Amino acid sequence: MQDDLERVLFHETAILSRLDQLAAEISQEYRGRELTVIAVLSGSLMFMADLLRRIPLPLRLDFVSVASYYGNAQTTGEIAFKQTALPDVKDRHILVLDDILDSGHTLAAIREKLETVAPRSIRICVLLSKKKKRARHVHADYVGFEIEDEFVVGYGLDFMERYRNLPYIGVLRKELMAQLT
Ligand code: IMP
Ligand code: MG
Repeated sequence: MQDDLERVLFHETAILSRLDQLAAEISQEYRGRELTVIAVLSGSLMFMADLLRRIPLPLRLDFVSVASYYGNAQTTGEIAFKQTALPDVKDRHILVLDDILDSGHTLAAIREKLETVAPRSIRICVLLSKKKKRARHVHADYVGFEIEDEFVVGYGLDFMERYRNLPYIGVLRKELMAQLT
């Protein structure tokens, strides 16, 4: 898998030390409030597991599962929710966790959907945010790292469902993306 990367962006140690900081910030801000974490499957799994173990607060954990990429690196803008029932988040303080903020379509759709259930508050936390003009504006309250507009894999992020289990994050070689799509 390593040979498929053009370069590594964030090694595991860099990711984990950034998560220490993010978790401290989140723990501080949610102290005394019951937090409900909604993780977006499947990309946020590694991030979620490592971040939540660093937050020593009582919290609930739930998931939403969406499809936006349909297998390749092109976003269509269409977001399909794969489950019929939304988590019960009425009057709760929600923190949405996702792997990466790219065009904004996914998180904008998730935010809108969750707002229909009348939570007390919604904040968004992403591991990565691409520096680019987004199709939809989304404010991320917590961001692990800002990156250039490149396709990255590893630590939960996939390309055609591969590379999620790499323990670090890197840029996929462009010719490989062209070959596989
Ligand atoms: P958005 O809707 O364009 O903001 O994209 C959000 C989703 O697209 C993320 O949750 C990822 O699953 C996927 N995605 C966007 N950019 C990348 C990338 O560089 N690598 C892997 N997945 C990505
Ligand atoms: Mg994906």
